[in-house]
Amino acid sequence: MADRVLVCVAWPYANGSLHVGQLAGAYLPADIFARFHRLVGNEVLMVSGSDDHGTPTTVRAEQEGRSPREVTDQYNAEFKETWKQLGIQFDIFTRTGTDNHREVAQDFFLRLLDSGHITKGTMQALYCPKDNRFLPDRYVEGTCPRCGFDGARGDQCDNCGHPLDATDLISPKCRFCGQQPVVRDTEHFFLQLGHFQQRLKDWVARQTHWRPQVASFTRGFLEQGLQARAITRDIEWGVPIPLSGFETKRIYVWFEACIGYLSSTIEWSAAHGDPEGWKPWWSQPTKSYYFIGKDNIVFHTIIWPAMLMGRGDLTLPTDVPANEYLNLEGAKVSTSRNWAIWVPEFLQRYDPDPLRYMLAANMPETRDADFTWEEFRRRNNDELVASWGNLVHRTLTFTVRNFGGKVPDGGNEVTEIVEARAVETLATVREMLEGCHFKNALREIMALSQFGNKVLDDRAPWRQIHEDRAACADTVRGLLTLINALKVMTYPFLPFSADALHGLLGYSDDLLARGWTLQRLESGTPLPTPQPLFKKIEE
Ligand code: MF3
Ligand code: ZN
Repeated sequence: MADRVLVCVAWPYANGSLHVGQLAGAYLPADIFARFHRLVGNEVLMVSGSDDHGTPTTVRAEQEGRSPREVTDQYNAEFKETWKQLGIQFDIFTRTGTDNHREVAQDFFLRLLDSGHITKGTMQALYCPKDNRFLPDRYVEGTCPRCGFDGARGDQCDNCGHPLDATDLISPKCRFCGQQPVVRDTEHFFLQLGHFQQRLKDWVARQTHWRPQVASFTRGFLEQGLQARAITRDIEWGVPIPLSGFETKRIYVWFEACIGYLSSTIEWSAAHGDPEGWKPWWSQPTKSYYFIGKDNIVFHTIIWPAMLMGRGDLTLPTDVPANEYLNLEGAKVSTSRNWAIWVPEFLQRYDPDPLRYMLAANMPETRDADFTWEEFRRRNNDELVASWGNLVHRTLTFTVRNFGGKVPDGGNEVTEIVEARAVETLATVREMLEGCHFKNALREIMALSQFGNKVLDDRAPWRQIHEDRAACADTVRGLLTLINALKVMTYPFLPFSADALHGLLGYSDDLLARGWTLQRLESGTPLPTPQPLFKKIEE
């Protein structure tokens, strides 16, 4: 029976273009994982959308003199175009600015309020007397009380990854006027995370399949003891609090953004004419995976699970395979200092598969990784063009020249040798992908492609054709079978070239329909004129 796999991907803030670090961190691994599961024959739903609310958006809108809605419209549209160009296949990519999301988020809030997991209280917040406003989250900067980093923002320290309350900051400054804000009382709602301390601890202890750094970060966080957290803010842009008397406040962006995983599933099923169709995606035995960057771990392994426990009727995450950071030429990416590779610009110059390849081969799964232009060029030229692409192109052009463009007839000696290796690799890669080990899976695939090149060089069909035509046909058939298997395995990583290769091997149907299996090509199948799969990149 097919499994159901819900693939949840971090919602990017709709306040700027995507950079390649975000692709490597969340979107690419999610897409590889989803494509793999679809190919295996599982039912997949991959959801996300733009994170429209909160101070990330309003800060940008104020800087540009535009409305927050204009800013989020622009980036929501840009993200969708980026996914299309990169082949990141969402079943739904929506936004938190929809009516549906507002309703689902407000309902979630009210349920937790009714069950006592959300309570009302007074807190102290920073207020700028000069600008006459509260300074939540990104409206204030200062020194992190945990690690001493002096560029921490009121919502989070980007250096040590800890979420913060603005009042925790040492020597806070208003981001508008630079002056020291004062502390004022304000009424807000709090999520009583402490209610879930023990249950979270027990649950996390059972997640032995989580990546070590995700598990240890989460355990460390739990050990410090969970405090109630304010989940509303003094701000005008966001999901309104569904209670009278709170018209000037909004639900905190992080509280409602995570609910997007649920609201997008609901939107998807409604759009498919099945308003109840979201339910199986949020109950056993469906597995749910959350692809995120490491700065989002606590929200996905503690706060969102606590919210789900508080509701009690929805499944908890199966895995949260968070990635570390992808640095750029040895230095940490900084969007404010414009030290980043912006995806839309990248795609104007290069094809998507080489980028996907580079990022998957270099995926920051267990530690930070580095993007360098030199390595991008080398991997494209040496690995995609000279190894994998060359194996395909040499084999296909040889077949066209010497066997009239048809899969030759004849013995199966080579076919059986390569099949044994390919079946083994299919099983290994499958297991690695199921466990979210993308980098290693790609390495196995490329090793099989190297093996193919070795078979080609050892058998030298260009000599065999003059000496022993039957042996030559055997070699060609074997290599075509190997290439066909590699096509299947490269598909999750390199969907554009895999689809093209599917056509070059004489198929006219959809690659997906054929599944995660090895298939011999039938003798006599006509092959179209070969085209190289990849282009060399000059210095
Ligand atoms: N917008 C957040 C970020 O870019 C991620 C939100 S993930 C969500 O860091 F699930 F909470 F939406
Ligand atoms: Zn810090």
